Amino acid sequence: MPTVYDRVVELPPDLLASCRPMPLPRRVLMCPPEHFDVFDVHNPFMQGNVGAVDHMRALDQWEQVAAAFRAAGAAVELIDPVEGLEDMVFCANPTFVGPDADGARLCILGNMKFESRQGEVRHFADYFAARGYDVQYLIGDEVFEGGGDALWHPGRGLIWGGYGYRTEPDSYEQISDFFDVPVLRLRLTSERFYHLDAALCALNERTALVRSPALAPAGMDLVRAVFDEVIEADPYEAENLMACNAAAIGGEHVIIPSGCARTSAALRERDFSVHPVDTSEFLKSGGSVYCMKMFLFD
Ligand code: ARG
Repeated sequence: MPTVYDRVVELPPDLLASCRPMPLPRRVLMCPPEHFDVFDVHNPFMQGNVGAVDHMRALDQWEQVAAAFRAAGAAVELIDPVEGLEDMVFCANPTFVGPDADGARLCILGNMKFESRQGEVRHFADYFAARGYDVQYLIGDEVFEGGGDALWHPGRGLIWGGYGYRTEPDSYEQISDFFDVPVLRLRLTSERFYHLDAALCALNERTALVRSPALAPAGMDLVRAVFDEVIEADPYEAENLMACNAAAIGGEHVIIPSGCARTSAALRERDFSVHPVDTSEFLKSGGSVYCMKMFLFD
């Protein structure tokens, strides 16, 4: 029965084991940064960076991110970039996709907070509809920023749902119903962690990477209750380099923003294979590895 949980005391026993198994993503969707830019300020990283993107470097860094996904074993699919949609490169945000209870492909459209990103949604809707996804939208006008705030638990039909700066908490009732899975809802407490994917990275079914002060205590308790192992990201690296905006492939390869030496060492200590990539141009917009792709589960 789909439900939204906010506190550990509400959890049924063995929640994780009771959630249906799910495949790990073997493909990612990316959008070339042809029109990527910083035109205005929607998060603290963008402050001081209007007009500061080096477009050649951005293109080069994006190629390195795509290459890192391929090297880690994930195929890279592409959506065409659209002129005037400068944030479209952050493919994780305008939709949320995954298998529904019958294993069919479902795409829930985002309801983006800022006008500059609202135009992205229909292009992703067309992309997924053309590939046989059931494309749905949320009823009402709650903000929902897709895979930036909603994260699948690796290998399980369970969703982690962040809110506080972009996505509004009520949207998760509908998300839970659409996918017929429980949602564990987490409040974000720090503006530099304005999307959940800036504060929490689910590495595999047992392990998470997190910047714990960016989550309200009740949410952090949920993370500790569900994951066997919780790795703390280095505070400086999480705040300034988006260390938690990493992406895990196959439960063992972690593609992480470069410069996160302490966080990478903590991951290697737990036997993860760590692949740093320079995303400095995208950090100027408040995004990095995780949000530069959408996981695909088919
Ligand atoms: N400039 C974009 C925005 O503010 C960056 C989005 C990055 N996405 C993410 N999931 N962290 O919307």
